Amino acid sequence: MGETWIKIENVSKKYTDNEFGTKASQNVITGINLEIKKGEFHILLGPSGCGKSTLLNIIAGFLPKSGGSITINGEEIIKPDRDRGVVFQNADSAIFPWLTVRENVEYGLRMKGIKAKDRRVISGEYIKLVGLNNHEDKYPKELSGGMKQRVQIARSLANDSEILIMDEPFGALDAHTRRILQIELVKIWEQTHKTIIFVTHDITEAILLGQRISIMSKAPEAAIYKIYEVDLPYPRKINSPEFSELFGQVQAHFDFGVNI
Ligand SMILES: Nc1ncnc2c1ncn2[C@@H]1O[C@H](COP(=O)(O)OP(=O)(O)OP(=O)(O)O)[C@@H](O)[C@H]1O
Ligand SMILES: [Mg+2]
Repeated sequence: MGETWIKIENVSKKYTDNEFGTKASQNVITGINLEIKKGEFHILLGPSGCGKSTLLNIIAGFLPKSGGSITINGEEIIKPDRDRGVVFQNADSAIFPWLTVRENVEYGLRMKGIKAKDRRVISGEYIKLVGLNNHEDKYPKELSGGMKQRVQIARSLANDSEILIMDEPFGALDAHTRRILQIELVKIWEQTHKTIIFVTHDITEAILLGQRISIMSKAPEAAIYKIYEVDLPYPRKINSPEFSELFGQVQAHFDFGVNI
């Protein structure tokens, strides 16, 4: 791994808007410091409600931060950009209901001006990868939650952004599809050297995928509590003693829950 690519310094977020127009008093996240290297597969692991989506949406440029700074290759993030592909936690708000599966997957490619014939080849490849072949011409309302999530994943991979920001992308999938996509994502990462920031609350998934795992403490005032370097070769074996040992260490933070 090379030099720091994404630098998160002292980032905090306070949601100020509620229906009464009064100010919320506490930071949801506070003092988040994290450096991610180009090509790194980085996991953010934390309990529900700790502020993972908040942090990801700030990195994606969709949500303004209340304090601190985030730079990519030295440039401050102020808005979404094609260099960052995002898979949102909720597919319903991310895919277009008036476009078919294929049109959704091809959307970014069309925006980039890629020819129809080439779009078709690229979208076909990723639609197959996520197991949606034979559903290409369906509209989102005809799909299950897990299928919609797979449309999002195929679209973000087809767009080929340098940085992939994924918010519990496999959370809504059945165990079998989830396992296939975990394996495929590792392969894609190994082949493309993308930088991936991946949120999950699943410890097994975190250890299967990540080179480093940042554990977040609970909101309010959530921060990065501990970072694990995972030194196991890919593809990782869930039943290996090394895997179990690391699982135990990570699990302990959640069991005792003192600081998270
Ligand atoms: N738009 C909003 N306005 C006010 N508070 C919010 C808003 N979005 C999130 N929060 C609060 O911020 C905290 C963190 O929420 P966030 O969605 O970032 O958590 P999370 O770690 O992604 O949770 P999960 O694992 O359940 O997806 C929660 O306490 C939540 O209530
Ligand atoms: Mg979330």
